[in-house]
Amino acid sequence: MPKILVTGGLGYIGSHTCVVLQQAGYEVVVVDNLVNSKPEVALQIEKITQQPLAVEVVDICDAHALKGFFEQHSDLDGIIHFAALKAVGESLAQPELYFNNNVGGMLQLLEQSPKQLPIVFSSSCTVYGQSEVLPLQEDFLFQKAESPYGSTKQMCEDILRFTAPKQQRKVIALRYFNPIGAHPTAHIGELPQGVPQNLVPYMTQTAAGKRPKLNVFGATYNTPDGSCIRDYIHVMDVAQAHVKAIERQLSQRQVEPYEAFNIGTGKGHSVLELIHLFEKATGVAVPHAIAAPRVGDVVAAYADTQYAETTLNWKAQYSIEQALQDAWAWEKAAPNE
Ligand code: NAD
Ligand code: UD1
Repeated sequence: MPKILVTGGLGYIGSHTCVVLQQAGYEVVVVDNLVNSKPEVALQIEKITQQPLAVEVVDICDAHALKGFFEQHSDLDGIIHFAALKAVGESLAQPELYFNNNVGGMLQLLEQSPKQLPIVFSSSCTVYGQSEVLPLQEDFLFQKAESPYGSTKQMCEDILRFTAPKQQRKVIALRYFNPIGAHPTAHIGELPQGVPQNLVPYMTQTAAGKRPKLNVFGATYNTPDGSCIRDYIHVMDVAQAHVKAIERQLSQRQVEPYEAFNIGTGKGHSVLELIHLFEKATGVAVPHAIAAPRVGDVVAAYADTQYAETTLNWKAQYSIEQALQDAWAWEKAAPNE
C-alpha cells in the first residue's frame, strides 16, 4: 500500500483528496497547521472511508518540525502539496505573509523531504491571468499576476520546473479551475471563514437566508449575457485528478521531470447562468442584483482539457447540476461557525 503525505489535507480540496486516496487503497498521512481548517475534519473523513487517518499538526514553514516529520516517516512514496493560503484579498493586504507561507513553505518542503519523492502541486488557472485566447492551454505563457496569491502560484511552478530536473524528482502541477461542491455525503465541504469571497459559497449562503442578496459583479462584459465566465468543476473530480497524478508518478509513466495539467471541465458558465442552474437544480431561489465589476476579475476562463484526458487519463465526471446540489446539501449540513 503506497504511503502518501498530504500537506494541507484537512482543507477543502485536501480533505476530499484524502477520501479518494484512502478509498483507492493508499495509506495517507496528513500534515496541516490548522490555519484554515479544523481538526474535526479528520473524523469526518474517517466517517466516510471507515479507515483511520493519521494527522500531524505541523507548519510546513517550520524547518525543524518538518525535518522531524520526515525522519519519523521514512517510508513515504509520494507527496501531494496543498498547504497554502488562498484568499486573494488578504494576499493584497499582506503580501509578505503569502510569499512566506506559500513560497517559503514549499521551499522548506523541497529542502526537508527526500529528493526521490514525487510531488503533486496545487496550482491554479490564475497563473494564466487575462488571456485573449480560449480555451486555456497548458503551454500558454503566464500573464502578469493580478495578486500576490497568483504570483505565489506562478513562482512555485517556476521553482518546481527548475528544481525538479536538478533534484531528479518527478513533479506534476495541477492547475485547478473553479472547484465547487462537496462530498455527496455532505460530511465534508468548504468551510469559508467570515464572508465568503467566492461565488458558490456566497450563493448557497444567500439561498439559506444568511445573506440578503448575491451581488453579480458586472453584467456588461463582452460575454453572451454580460457576466463573467468560469469553468466550475466538482471538487470530487479535482480530488480524483490527484489519484491519477500519483498513479502516473508511482508507475513510472511520467518521463519528463515536470508536467502541468489543466483540471477543469472544458465548459464555461456565466455567473447569471450559474444562478439559474442552481435555482433549477435545488428549487431554491437566490435573490441577486447586478453590481459593479470586481477589480482584477478575468472576463472569461475555461480549460482545454485534452492534455489531461490523453496524458493523465483523467476527465471530469460530475455534472454542474450535481456539483450545485452537493454544494447546497453541504450548506445545510455544515457546522455553523
Ligand atoms: P484550504 O485553505 O481549504 O486548505 C489549505 C490547507 O492548508 C488548510 O487546511 C490550512 O490549514 C493548511 N495550511 C496552510 N498553510 C499551512 C502551513 N504553512 N503549514 C501547514 N498547513 C498549512 O484551501 P483549498 O481550497 O483546499 O486549496 C488547497 C490548495 O489548492 C491551495 O494550495 C490553493 O491555493 C489551491 N487552489 C485552490 C483553489 C480553490 O478555489 N479552492 C483553486 C486553485 C488552487
Ligand atoms: C478565484 C480567485 C483565483 C483562484 C480561483 C480558483 C479571486 C479574486 N480569485 O477566482 O485566484 O485561482 O478562484 O478557484 O478570488 N462573483 C460574483 N459575486 C460574488 C462572488 C463572485 O459575481 O459574490 C463572480 C466573480 O466576479 C467571478 C465569478 O463569480 O466572475 C467567480 O468568482 P470566484 O468564485 O471568486 O472565483 P474566481 O474569480 O474565478
